[in-house]
Amino acid sequence: MNIALIGFGKVSYNLVKLIKSPDINFTTSTEDRSKNTVDLINKSDVSVYDSFSQAIEDADIIISANSPSQAIETAEKYGNSDAIYLDLNNISPKTVTEINNLVGNFVDGAIIGKIASHHPILYLSGSHAKELLFLNEFLDVKIISDRVGDASTLKLLRSTYTKSLSVLLIESYDLAKSFNLEDEFFDAVSLTEGDDFKQKSLSRINNTLKSSKRKSEELEEILQYFDGNELKMVKTALDKLKQF
Ligand SMILES: NC(=O)c1ccc[n+]([C@@H]2O[C@H](COP(=O)([O-])OP(=O)(O)OC[C@H]3O[C@@H](n4cnc5c(N)ncnc54)[C@H](OP(=O)(O)O)[C@@H]3O)[C@@H](O)[C@H]2O)c1
Repeated sequence: MNIALIGFGKVSYNLVKLIKSPDINFTTSTEDRSKNTVDLINKSDVSVYDSFSQAIEDADIIISANSPSQAIETAEKYGNSDAIYLDLNNISPKTVTEINNLVGNFVDGAIIGKIASHHPILYLSGSHAKELLFLNEFLDVKIISDRVGDASTLKLLRSTYTKSLSVLLIESYDLAKSFNLEDEFFDAVSLTEGDDFKQKSLSRINNTLKSSKRKSEELEEILQYFDGNELKMVKTALDKLKQF
């Protein structure tokens, strides 16, 4: 089986490391790619072609993992084949629908958490999703439904909760610090939220503050997509996030 990778960053690099089988051959290309990407490709067990058009020629599966801004153009260029086309970019369900109209055999994919984590989880939806169930041998694959858009909507719903909650966490932590009670605050909340609450919270606070601009953009996208729903908490979280 041939799996063509359009884009070779963290996602593709880790997928190649995870999906190790003598029956699977990965292909990609260095066409117009940066030194970083070429270095990652050279470190990996993958067949390299001069162009992406050559790399997808005998593909059974094409995986688009490049950038949200390139997802549609990639689908336009390489989606016109009989291969299964899996999009793993962080794109909104609206963009997913546009891509579904451009390519045949489309599967909507959403990586939950970081791909480099010990246990990456891949949510899939669409009528062709079951054809990718064999990936369960290598990572945790969950098929949600045969409706394209459900996987990306679920990812957005998850972000609605986690990103808004992170802002509330920062606010509560700052308040606790102002009373010099931050350790006691974590201990008290851990009683109901679990023993690893402090460690997870500090990492979440750190991540949110470090990439507050990107997180703000993601919350803006959520508000735009779920427009018409009463998302007062998300709006407030966004206002606060913009101040960091
Ligand atoms: N990392 C994660 O854990 C994670 C989780 C969920 C979803 N995602 C999504 O998955 C996608 C890839 O993420 P990543 O972390 O692998 O990103 P990354 O490390 O930044 O790598 C992106 C790769 O795509 C290449 N690329 C960009 N535009 C391209 C184009 N037009 N044609 C072919 N290749 C192109 C880049 O090449 P150059 O270096 O030459 O620019 C690079 O190799 C993103 O859409 C991201 O939102 C990532």
